[in-house]
Amino acid sequence: MGYKITVEKTKASRLSEIDFNHLPFGKYFSDHMFVADYRDGDWHDCRIVPFGNFSMHPALSSLHYGQAIFEGMKAERDADGNPIIFRPLKNVNRLNISTERMAMPEVPEELFMNALDKLVSLDKDWIPDAPHSALYIRPHMYATEEFVGIKPAENFRFCIFTSPVGAYYSHPVKVFVQDKYVRAFPGGVGYAKCAGNYGAVMKPTREVQKMGYDQILWLDGIHHRYLQEIGTMNIFAIIDGVIITPALDQGTILDGVTRDSMIRLAENEGYVVQERDISIDEIINAYHEGKLQDLFGTGTAAVVSHIGEFHYKGENYELPPVEEREISNKLKGRFIAIKSGKAEDVFGWLHTVPVSVYAHQ
Ligand SMILES: Cc1ncc(COP(=O)(O)O)c(C=O)c1O
Repeated sequence: MGYKITVEKTKASRLSEIDFNHLPFGKYFSDHMFVADYRDGDWHDCRIVPFGNFSMHPALSSLHYGQAIFEGMKAERDADGNPIIFRPLKNVNRLNISTERMAMPEVPEELFMNALDKLVSLDKDWIPDAPHSALYIRPHMYATEEFVGIKPAENFRFCIFTSPVGAYYSHPVKVFVQDKYVRAFPGGVGYAKCAGNYGAVMKPTREVQKMGYDQILWLDGIHHRYLQEIGTMNIFAIIDGVIITPALDQGTILDGVTRDSMIRLAENEGYVVQERDISIDEIINAYHEGKLQDLFGTGTAAVVSHIGEFHYKGENYELPPVEEREISNKLKGRFIAIKSGKAEDVFGWLHTVPVSVYAHQ
């Protein structure tokens, strides 16, 4: 059983070209990537090769019909220098939730984890050490059918590349509560990490960025009232000491790994956490009553990002200074300490990459 993964190492590492103290997000790519091709009902040619371009047919079906999905996760280094990856099993599980929705093949957990271990151990020197930096990992899959016509594809490519990254947002974010465009609705694909979800928000996002906002806070697609999520983050509100985050049951938001981790951390610290519908009216009423203590977003790229202010129907609402947000600052600190291996991994969230796999090479 199992998939054999071949390895072709680069002859010219680009590692020395990177300034690890000034890392923008998503611009540099490590030396190697993992690639596998799906045909005749199974994964073939599982390989690690030097990072580089693919050639492609102009009728590549994912470009036309959008069968394309991805994941995002991070590796850091523990005190002994071993690469650690935060909750990768949650990501492979979510990847396969996305593939199921998009009529794409599942990636077996064992193949995913072997590929990840081998790739990250091979490129472990690409893991940055500076605070708030990490090796971002981007698994993704797309249809490779060379065909014009709408039908579920039968051929796919699965690839994982990695990218050393710095902080995503360095300031409290300004969000625009969107009541014109919608991102997701029940029965749609909001819960899947499919490329089209991101393509569809480019225009609305550009519009609010031109007005000086960083991101959109999406409302539900039916009532335009209930909070969904922000850009690439799940949202949390703290009202009168209670932590509230939209529930997953409508299938309209991503089941964020950071979201789940924050909920578990908060409950473990003794806070009351409610996963439920929360309307923009409830947020604004709490604001006027002086009970809205916090709004923040969570995500792999941004970790925990405080919202500095939000805009809704012509009004701007300013939130308390970040240093006063005791609960989220405490949870953020606990979260960062665990995921970087500095605090005890009480929840069993860290996957230590077995460097020994490549130590002898
Ligand atoms: C739409 C969306 N929501 C939420 C998240 C946060 O999810 P996670 O914490 O797993 O990164 C992301 C990022 O992956 C996202 O793209």
